[in-house]
Amino acid sequence: MDGKRILLIIGGGIAAYKSLELIRLLAKDGIGARVILTKAGAEFVTPLSVSALSGDKVFQDLFNLTDEAEMGHIELSRSADLIVVAPATADLLAKAANGLANDLASTTLLATDKPVLMVPAMNVRMWEHAAVKRNVAQLVADGVHVMQPDVGPMACGEFGPGRLPEPERIAAQIRKLLAGPVGAGPLAGFRAIVTAGPTREPLDPVRFISNHSSGKQGYAIAEALSRLGADVRLVTGPTSLAIPDGVTPVKVETAVEMHDAVKAQLPADIFVAVAAVADWRPATRAQTKLKLKGAQEAGVALQLVENPDILKRIASKKKDRPRLVIGFAAETDNVEAHAKAKLLRKGCDWILANDVSGDVMGGSDNEVLLVTRKGTERWPRMAKAEVALKLADRIAEAFYDPEGAAKIGAAE
Ligand code: C5P
Repeated sequence: MDGKRILLIIGGGIAAYKSLELIRLLAKDGIGARVILTKAGAEFVTPLSVSALSGDKVFQDLFNLTDEAEMGHIELSRSADLIVVAPATADLLAKAANGLANDLASTTLLATDKPVLMVPAMNVRMWEHAAVKRNVAQLVADGVHVMQPDVGPMACGEFGPGRLPEPERIAAQIRKLLAGPVGAGPLAGFRAIVTAGPTREPLDPVRFISNHSSGKQGYAIAEALSRLGADVRLVTGPTSLAIPDGVTPVKVETAVEMHDAVKAQLPADIFVAVAAVADWRPATRAQTKLKLKGAQEAGVALQLVENPDILKRIASKKKDRPRLVIGFAAETDNVEAHAKAKLLRKGCDWILANDVSGDVMGGSDNEVLLVTRKGTERWPRMAKAEVALKLADRIAEAFYDPEGAAKIGAAE
C-alpha cells in the first residue's frame, strides 16, 4: 500500500484517541495520513500528538490564511485517495448528509471527489435515534461507506452499539477500500456467512447419503452480498460451482462439519442458510467398506441419527447471534402458511420461501416469497441470480433504512 494517502478527519468524541493508534497502524503499511482535526476533536486529542504521529501539519481552521496559502481546502479534499472520518460524530454525519459546509471538515467533505468512509461513534441512544438513522441512510444512498459501530460498554456507562470499532478493524476496512472497487458498497464492513450446497453423510469410506442441491442459489447470494461490499464466508458442501470472486470459501462435507464451520466464522452481521443440509446421518461410519455378507441377507437396516439444525441453532444463540438470520423454505403446498410457521419454529428473522412443486430444483429460475415478522412480499418469477441481487439489496436496505430496524425481525 506504499504511496497511498488518506485524509483523516478526527471528530470530537471520547474515542478520538483511537484515531492516533489508527494513524500508527496505517503508517506501518506505508499508508500516509494527513489530518483535519475539528474544533470538538481538539478537545480530546492535541494537534501536537496528531502531528507527531502523522509527520505532517494538522489542519484545523477553514479561515486560516497560512493554511489556505499552503494548501486550499479544495486541494486538501482532493489530495488523498480516501477520506476517513473517525470518530464520525452525530454532528458530522448530519452535516455531511445535509451538505452543510460551515467548517473545514464539512467543507472538505462537500468539496471532495474521493471515496469517503465514515466510522461512527456515539452514545447508543444517539446511534439509534431516527434522525441519525435517516442521516446514515442518506449518506449510504449518496455512496458514502459507513462502518457499523461496535457493540459494548460505553464511556457513558450504557451498553449497546455505538463504540468506535477497534483501530485494527478500521485499518482493515481502509486497506480494502484503497485496494479498489471490490469491497466497496453499502455492506462494506459487514460480515456475512452463507451456507450452500448439499451435505454428504458417509456410511463408509466410499458411500454417502446426500441430495441433489446444486448450490446455485447459495453461491449467487454469496456473490451478490460480496458485490455490495460484505466480507462473505461461503460455507459450502460439495458442488461443481466455481467460488465467486471476492468470496472466502470454507469447504465442508457433513452437516456436523458445516455447523462447526459456521460457528467458527462467528461473529457475523448476517447469516443466510441456503444449504440443503441432510436431516439425518448414519449412526455409525464404518472404517472399511461395508461388504455384502451373503445372498441370504434379505435386507440391512440402516440406523440414522438426526443432524443439528444449523439455522435454528445459530438463530437461537444467546451470544454472537447475527443481527439478521435468514432461512429458506422449499414447500410444495400452502407455501406462505408453512413459511410463517417455519420462521417461528427456527427463530429466524426472514424466510425466503419457494414453491418447489414445479421445476425449481436444479433449474435456474425461482419464484419466491419473502416472509418477515412484519408480513409477506411476493416476488415475481426471476433468475436465481436476480433473486440473490434483490435479497442482497433488501439486506442492505434493512441495515440502513430508517425503518430498517423494524424490517429486521430480531430488532423488534
Ligand atoms: O426444516 P427445513 O430443512 O425445511 O429448513 C430449511 C432451512 O433450514 C434452510 O434455510 C436450510 O439451510 C436450513 N437448515 C439448516 N440445518 C438443517 C436443516 C435445515 O441450516 N439441519
